[in-house]
Amino acid sequence: MQTVKVRASTEYDVLIERGILKKAGELIKEYTGAGRALLITDRTVDGLYSKAALESLKSAGINCEKFVFEDGEEHKSLKTVGDILSFAAQLSLNRSDIFIALGGGIVGDVTGFAASAYLRGVRFVQIPTTLLAAVDSSVGGKTGVDMPEGKNLVGAFYQPRLVLIDPAVLATLPDQTFADGMAEVIKYGYISNREILDMVSAPDYKKNIERIICECVRIKRDVVTIDEHDTGLRMILNFGHTIGHAAEKLGNYVDLTHGQAVAVGMVAAMRLSAMLGNEDLSERLIGILEHIGLPTELKYGREDIYRSLLSDKKKFGATVNFILVREPGRAEITPIGAEKLHEYVLKL
Ligand code: NAD
Ligand code: GLY
Repeated sequence: MQTVKVRASTEYDVLIERGILKKAGELIKEYTGAGRALLITDRTVDGLYSKAALESLKSAGINCEKFVFEDGEEHKSLKTVGDILSFAAQLSLNRSDIFIALGGGIVGDVTGFAASAYLRGVRFVQIPTTLLAAVDSSVGGKTGVDMPEGKNLVGAFYQPRLVLIDPAVLATLPDQTFADGMAEVIKYGYISNREILDMVSAPDYKKNIERIICECVRIKRDVVTIDEHDTGLRMILNFGHTIGHAAEKLGNYVDLTHGQAVAVGMVAAMRLSAMLGNEDLSERLIGILEHIGLPTELKYGREDIYRSLLSDKKKFGATVNFILVREPGRAEITPIGAEKLHEYVLKL
């Protein structure tokens, strides 16, 4: 078993081991001492993994109820959080009880936010079941939901007490969902550790997935330890996301998955970096993305991309904090003025 220790405002361990789901009960008991829990999951994951999780919790002496909601970003909502809070209240869960998120990034974000609000905060455990959730969303404490006015508009920084990553559960992921997580893995390679790029370039890279996950979690841990609240260094985790988000929004979150948007966003960021006089690193990146089965080209008009970007830009004012990679494994936060950015985006 690999252990990654996170030392943020809350200290917790991320435990990574094939088959760890079956040990979830004993580990959660050991780490939290909880006697009661609410397992929160979505419809698909419920059909695949709730039974194993509940059996393990029961044999560890944890009395666990289950809340299931429908899959999909449209259910990452205040309505779902409200339903969870009502359910927890009807069960009279108290501050010594815990929430457990069993699922992908949506389940994790919703559960974490509900946990942050119930009784002004109950402890929660993340058991990620997608690659994206394992390498990114389950660690670092960003929780929240979407609003009709925008994605991830409401939320809280609220750290889990334990994260259990079982690489074996990734075997049931659809290829596209697996590839979405790989976009984030490739991101870690470019912003922090070029060895990840060699690992994912191998024909049988999936055999090394446990090692790849560990390395990504360590990078996320290192970033979050320095900048938990996203005021500086943590922005490097947004490599490929600035233009990626703009494209995702233009496609109404349907035409492109998040991972696909990040993939085309990373290529665009590399090209933009070359326009600023840096070495053009896009060729190797395109090769890696094609090997994984991710897209590489922006399908939208550049003027539309720029306009979509501007709505994000409001967060920053006159400049956008762009994440640039000058050499694989090293990222920089570079503020770019709106007019300059317009010029560059039109040339992409
Ligand atoms: P997801 O949670 O929607 O899961 C994708 C699909 O895979 C769902 O239908 C789910 O039921 C299914 N699934 C999950 N595990 C499975 C398994 N083992 N086998 C078969 N099917 C399985 O998507 P995601 O990509 O995991 O997460 C995306 C969400 O994460 C977005 O809402 C995004 O905003 C959020 N996110 C949060 C952070 C953060 O730091 N909090 C970071 C990145 C992304
Ligand atoms: N996924 C980006 C972050 O956690 O900051």
